Amino acid sequence: MPETIPLVIDTDTAQDDCIALLAGLLDPRAELRAVTMVAGNVGFDHQVRNAFLTLNAAGRLGEVPVHLGCRRPLVRPWEGAEDVHGDGAGGLTMDLTGCDPDPEHAVDALVRLAAENPGELAVVAIGPLTNIASAAAKDPDFVHNVGTLYVMGGSNNGRGNITAAAEFNFYVDPEAAKAVFAAGFEIVVVPWAPLTLDQAVFDQPKLDEIAALGTPLSDFFTRVCAATLEFDRSVGIDGTTHPDSLTTALLLHPDLVTRSARYHVDVETAGELTRGYAAMSWGVHGLEPNATVIEEIDAPAFYAYIKNLLATKTEPARPMA
Ligand code: BDR
Ligand code: CA
Repeated sequence: MPETIPLVIDTDTAQDDCIALLAGLLDPRAELRAVTMVAGNVGFDHQVRNAFLTLNAAGRLGEVPVHLGCRRPLVRPWEGAEDVHGDGAGGLTMDLTGCDPDPEHAVDALVRLAAENPGELAVVAIGPLTNIASAAAKDPDFVHNVGTLYVMGGSNNGRGNITAAAEFNFYVDPEAAKAVFAAGFEIVVVPWAPLTLDQAVFDQPKLDEIAALGTPLSDFFTRVCAATLEFDRSVGIDGTTHPDSLTTALLLHPDLVTRSARYHVDVETAGELTRGYAAMSWGVHGLEPNATVIEEIDAPAFYAYIKNLLATKTEPARPMA
């Protein structure tokens, strides 16, 4: 296994996307080449702001380029999750003077970075798959130039979150998700249910432990997760949910995976009740596998990983309030 992993995080930055970025920015195994932004959780410009806030929290403002990508899904109007995430960063603000996105479009950046070292770049896609599908359409070599594509999305024959059938990232841009699974990438999928709900929820005792760390990052975590925690509790989830940081952690530390299997994954675009539903076929329906789906992780080790990350003593260049 190489010592460091070159990666791009493609994100709709709000709540756990911020924690995923922290992993990309601070884990010594991660060589974060760029952050690419896609329409998803909250208003696009808010997401961009949240990404800069996170770079600042990590003490790495100005060190990693932020590229703006697709501002709406391929075919449908954008639908967000502001009811879940608020502004996605708990109302945190800072002076954003000079926090300018890179002028290169996110899709071009993805294509270029993958082509620079074919087969080496990992892409962690933790929002709707609009940028990834667009990059694959723009450059037919992109699919093979990307080493591995880690996707947070879908449920493995489990319940959705935005509808009974669909997980948010696939629901927002089902056409993009369908295209990505048909494209021929080496894909690893981190599903919402049952995996995230069973193994990547931090309950109150864990949240108290994190708050007690008393670092700038633990304060940041508590603040950006607060709105989502309130929403999660209102729908019967006993804590904060961490699908995006889990996806990043599993790329960087594959030993956290305790069970995975090959599946054929496809995404519903036409259903009346099932828009964005992920059909994950487990090998008995005569379909060629196109993805590895994570089924079980070492949950205590994942929590320890995030706690350890948040214990890092960073020096944010700008005050945040
Ligand atoms: C996914 O949707 C978003 O709300 C989260 O950031 C995560 O990527 C979970 O369904
Ligand atoms: Ca996300």
